[in-house]
Amino acid sequence: MLAHGMLAGLDEIAGTGRDARRGGYSRHLWQGADLELRAWFTERAERLGLMVATDRNGNLWAWWGEPGPGAVVTGSHLDSVPGGGAYDGPLGVVSAFEAIGRLQASGFVPSRPVAVLVFAEEEGSRFGIACLGSRLMTGGIDADRARALVDPDGVTLAEAAVRAGVDPERLGADREALGRIGLFIELHVEQGRGLIDLGRPVAVASSILAHGRWRLTVTGQGNHAGATLMPGRRDPMVAAARAVVAVHEASSAIPGARATVGRLEVVPGGTNVIASTVHAWLDARCETDAGTRALVAAITARVEEAVGLNGCSVSVTEESWTGTVTFDHGLRECFGRELGGVPFLPTGAGHDAGVLAASVPSAMLFVRNPTGISHSPEEFAEADDCVAGIDALETLLRSLL
Ligand code: GLV
Ligand code: MN
Ligand code: MN
Repeated sequence: MLAHGMLAGLDEIAGTGRDARRGGYSRHLWQGADLELRAWFTERAERLGLMVATDRNGNLWAWWGEPGPGAVVTGSHLDSVPGGGAYDGPLGVVSAFEAIGRLQASGFVPSRPVAVLVFAEEEGSRFGIACLGSRLMTGGIDADRARALVDPDGVTLAEAAVRAGVDPERLGADREALGRIGLFIELHVEQGRGLIDLGRPVAVASSILAHGRWRLTVTGQGNHAGATLMPGRRDPMVAAARAVVAVHEASSAIPGARATVGRLEVVPGGTNVIASTVHAWLDARCETDAGTRALVAAITARVEEAVGLNGCSVSVTEESWTGTVTFDHGLRECFGRELGGVPFLPTGAGHDAGVLAASVPSAMLFVRNPTGISHSPEEFAEADDCVAGIDALETLLRSLL
């Protein structure tokens, strides 16, 4: 099953979507690498005799048995952040296929429908909203708003859907697809150091921090870089630099808070041009909904003060929001029993399982990441730990089916 120290399925897709400039992988919704991965998914599923279907929101399903209500569904996503690692998403998909392959090889006959599910645009790397496929399915984002989202090249989600063969008019809450999910299990590489510290290979997720994304638009006065003296400039780049420091300082003062600016867009963006506008995207997270709201309020106040020092103004627009998720207690108890003494861990990372949790019983398994690093090419999982994750998933599927 293992080649080059990685799961065979990860080996099969190891060359897809490599990013020579950033390092790691850039696999974005309905672009070259994502389309290749969807073709790989179909071929991999067909090798197991599964029936593949794409739903109204571009999520990919592979059914073992007739699609139907009460299904045990497992999977994750195949898209990545820009320059991401090999495991975030694909590990859950590959492990789902491995676990089903083992059940089949042992002659196991499931008593309920089973599916492997890949959610579209989990990272929000192309259209800006994380977990877009699961939000659309559950009605967590308005379909008109989703259709109008634009990628960095100005292509709308509606246009991209048409090019990918998905009818944009049918995007949106999909009661039929959601109604088939009896429960959802997402296996995922751990994004943090919990399992390193515990010295264990696998954990069950307990909760996800409240989190969201906000666009900070800093406005100043565009002008000529050579003809404009330093005094009196209203340079939004300088103001944005102060804003980024303000985000860091405001969040550092609140225990447990996390806030990040990982993306800037400079308008117009010329070496000899004082910018007129800078867009900065804020990702903010805290344990509770109220704590996260308070964090963003504190950040907003500090940022407004900071940009004013350069004669600039700022507007803050919420682009997405996910409240604190507590995973299904019944499933957690069941996993604890079946996996004897498995640890439970909270996470600061968002997941489709967290979005689904409001609609159907959902759960997650984490596999140890010995670097503790994720959303980076340094993300890793040892082959033996991946096998322990598949063992756990197989055990759970056997008990739930
Ligand atoms: C997804 O990985 C997120 O936590 O943003
Ligand atoms: Mn991720
Ligand atoms: Mn992920």
